[in-house]
Amino acid sequence: MCGIIGVIQEKGEVAPFIHQALKRLEYRGYDSVGVTTIDMDRLYSKKDKGKIDDVHRKLNLDDLPGRIGIGHTRWATHGIPSLFNSHPHFDCNNEVAVVHNGVIDNFLALREELLSKGHKFDSETDTEVIPHLIEDCIADGMSLKEAVKYVTKRIEGTYAVVAMCINEPDKIVVTRDGNPLVIGRKGSTSYVSSDIPAFLPMTNNMMLLLDGEIATLTLDGIEFEKLSDGSQVNRKTIKISWTADQAQKGGFPHFMLKEIHEQPEAIANTLRLPQEAIDKAAELILNADKTYFLAMGTSGHAALAGRHMFASLSGILPSLELASEFQDTVYGAINDTDLVVAITQSGETTDTIVAAKYAKKLGSKILAITNVVGSSITRLADHTIITQAGPEIGVAATKTFMVQLASLAQIALAAGHRSSFIDSEIISRKRESLGRLPDIVSSVIATQEANARRIAGEYYMHPSMLFLGRGISMATAYEGALKLKEIAYNHAEGYSAGESKHGPIALVEDGYPVIFVAPNDNTRSRLIGNIMEMKARGASIISVIEEEDTELEFLSNELFSIPHGVEPEFSIMPYIVPLQLFSYYMATRKGYDPDKPRNLAKSVTVL
Ligand code: G6P
Repeated sequence: MCGIIGVIQEKGEVAPFIHQALKRLEYRGYDSVGVTTIDMDRLYSKKDKGKIDDVHRKLNLDDLPGRIGIGHTRWATHGIPSLFNSHPHFDCNNEVAVVHNGVIDNFLALREELLSKGHKFDSETDTEVIPHLIEDCIADGMSLKEAVKYVTKRIEGTYAVVAMCINEPDKIVVTRDGNPLVIGRKGSTSYVSSDIPAFLPMTNNMMLLLDGEIATLTLDGIEFEKLSDGSQVNRKTIKISWTADQAQKGGFPHFMLKEIHEQPEAIANTLRLPQEAIDKAAELILNADKTYFLAMGTSGHAALAGRHMFASLSGILPSLELASEFQDTVYGAINDTDLVVAITQSGETTDTIVAAKYAKKLGSKILAITNVVGSSITRLADHTIITQAGPEIGVAATKTFMVQLASLAQIALAAGHRSSFIDSEIISRKRESLGRLPDIVSSVIATQEANARRIAGEYYMHPSMLFLGRGISMATAYEGALKLKEIAYNHAEGYSAGESKHGPIALVEDGYPVIFVAPNDNTRSRLIGNIMEMKARGASIISVIEEEDTELEFLSNELFSIPHGVEPEFSIMPYIVPLQLFSYYMATRKGYDPDKPRNLAKSVTVL
């Protein structure tokens, strides 16, 4: 949801690096792009609506002078994607430049106030009030840092702000409340960005900027300060294990395909999480009166599957809540005996953060499952599990989903073990099965990719499809449908196969594709009943089955087959893979870019 970058370096022009950093942040938004630099006491800018490559072809984003600059890739909230609404935004004299991620709730009142003082606005954005507020402060003799501090007192909402001005051409001032910013330093070069991959090719040493702090980046270093009392903050450097190669396509045509292929390794790495961290998470769940899973999007599907894992492996049935609805559903009916498990790959989804903050205020403990070290959710949480997917660039989540599932499976097993809900022999069998998953997922990718491409070739003209499953496979069906909707723009509905008779079956006519997730578990015979109902109405049946399930082979028009040996609680991990590949090939067959689906952003930092 908008990517921000700021760089100050000693020698050479900074614009080409900013351009490349924006490319690495493009998954956060891609409807417009802009870069501003300072050279010889003036601002130089290029910006426009469109994807970075298109704007670069038109304007040459590399061709800007100066050693200091800021850039932005946008996901529109206030104002349509257009040249004028593109960031950076400026003051009246073109002396102050600002990029922003977030939403300023009181921008209309501020805009009125500034207009009445004679300020001229170019855009419809909420952001533009910031450079104009800074302009007035500077006219009153304040430094850029003081001006940004003043801005934080005037604006309400959520923000990550990066500002520079020609009066102080050797610094970048940054602040945040509710939206992410990370800072990097290599030699005398300082970086700030919304996410680590932006500067990962230069350094994997990063420092966090926390809500309510302001930082000044210069060649000499980075100074952190608390906004509340102006005290200096001594911020530690964190070394992260991600590498620049992980954030490259590595020979694959798209990040999404590369990330699907990285899933076996991501699961294996996540299965190596320290047992103490897993046990602590299990202990929190065992000690809670009630446990609520909170998540959005794909993470919500991991939560739904996790609920099945917990019920089956530990006898605990957590409530599952859409984070965006939590506050309006629980009406305060949670307390300090409860636990909220916030599942969010980015750790920054505002719906999830706001819901977790609400639960915390009411006294609940927070367990976070996230892929990003130092993300906002980790700072709210009593305990955090960091999943080991490495950076995920494709907007539609794949490997981060897989590692959420692998973490939930481990915690559920640990809880079942500690509470003796299932005996140790069964636990060992389940653990072994979990350990085999990297190989099984690997074999699914190897054997089913060509099949997925072929089936996508057959079905890409169908505008609408149903995805059905029972038990944990309902979550697989939901996620399969979401992937297809997100990147191939098909109408796709994930449904409980049992519930499909109560509505969705009305859509079915001759040749209508219905995808069944049909592992060989205790839902299989009832699912066959649902397949028969759909067949009787002419549906074309595509099934994801366990290999050599001849009965289901006979009933299906198309098949994806998954190796034997998967415990029912973990079936979602291999069974989702052909559906990820199917969506990918549907999108590419239709000529869409699966890495950058329209209107979507990887981390959604608005409510
Ligand atoms: C966005 C992304 C989805 C993701 C969801 C939740 O909608 O496009 O892929 O599942 O946010 O994100 P989170 O970071 O909280 O898991």
